Amino acid sequence: MSDPIATCLAGALSPELAIAQCLLQGDSPATLGTRVQRARTDTAAWYALDRICADTDRIARLQHMIAVAGVEHAAPRDPGSIALLFDRAVAVSPEASVALYSLGDPARLDLATSEVIEWLVSETWLRPGMDVLDLGCGIGRLIPATAQVARSVIGLDVSAGMIAEARHRCAGLPNLRLEVGSGRDLAGIADRSLDLVLAVDSLPYVVQAGLADVLAAEIARALRPRGAWVILNLAYDCAPDAEKATIAAWCDRFHFAPRRLGVTPFRHWDARGFVVERLD
Ligand SMILES: C[S@@+](CC[C@H](N)C(=O)[O-])C[C@H]1O[C@@H](n2cnc3c(N)ncnc32)[C@H](O)[C@@H]1O
Repeated sequence: MSDPIATCLAGALSPELAIAQCLLQGDSPATLGTRVQRARTDTAAWYALDRICADTDRIARLQHMIAVAGVEHAAPRDPGSIALLFDRAVAVSPEASVALYSLGDPARLDLATSEVIEWLVSETWLRPGMDVLDLGCGIGRLIPATAQVARSVIGLDVSAGMIAEARHRCAGLPNLRLEVGSGRDLAGIADRSLDLVLAVDSLPYVVQAGLADVLAAEIARALRPRGAWVILNLAYDCAPDAEKATIAAWCDRFHFAPRRLGVTPFRHWDARGFVVERLD
């Protein structure tokens, strides 16, 4: 297991991501503080780590969220238990439940969200007039900006708690439909009705549930020709070659063409991005 603090001090991980990874590795506020003190260097990154650790209430809340939700990325889980995990997490901290590296801070989450939206627009994956599905939309942090550009947005999530939070945050958007789904299909979404499917940090849970091929087939069904599927994080703890092999297999089976493979375009988030386009 790599040491997130050392990786951060080497400049390869932001302090927020490093702290989030330590918490996922089981650190408590006390062990985290000790770990950071032991690694002391006279660098901006170290001082940033130290400042985050000094907010022990915040760290304890994040640790509590991980404990009640039972975040475990390796073991197989069915969609029902994934829904329960996110129902519990969102009740503790909506921001941290969708992006632990936000450390539960709305301003940090907004920075990361803006960066994703700017990338989608600058790469023209998100364009005016599109019909968009946000698969695993969580609290809907991408939806207001997406709905401003798109013709319509569907936010779909397996967690009722997430959708309740998204309804609250996205209230009043006239071109938005929010739905709790089974996690196993895109029921209720017509064939060839979408121009863009976003899967922002939701695919790892679909993979964990063993449903990635099933949902890839559903997405291929629901996309129009030339429609794009943007995946930010495909799986956790997966070798880059294995990710590329998965994408290649989907391209063969479901008539996609690869457009981006394993790009890392963000400063605030270390997601690996993949984009495939539906062929005719
Ligand atoms: C880490 S959160 C990311 C949420 C949101 N995309 C974001 O970036 O803010 C992962 C989300 O995927 C949802 N999810 C997991 N498996 C799913 C599935 N099979 N179908 C739909 N949503 C799913 C979870 O409930 C959770 O809201």
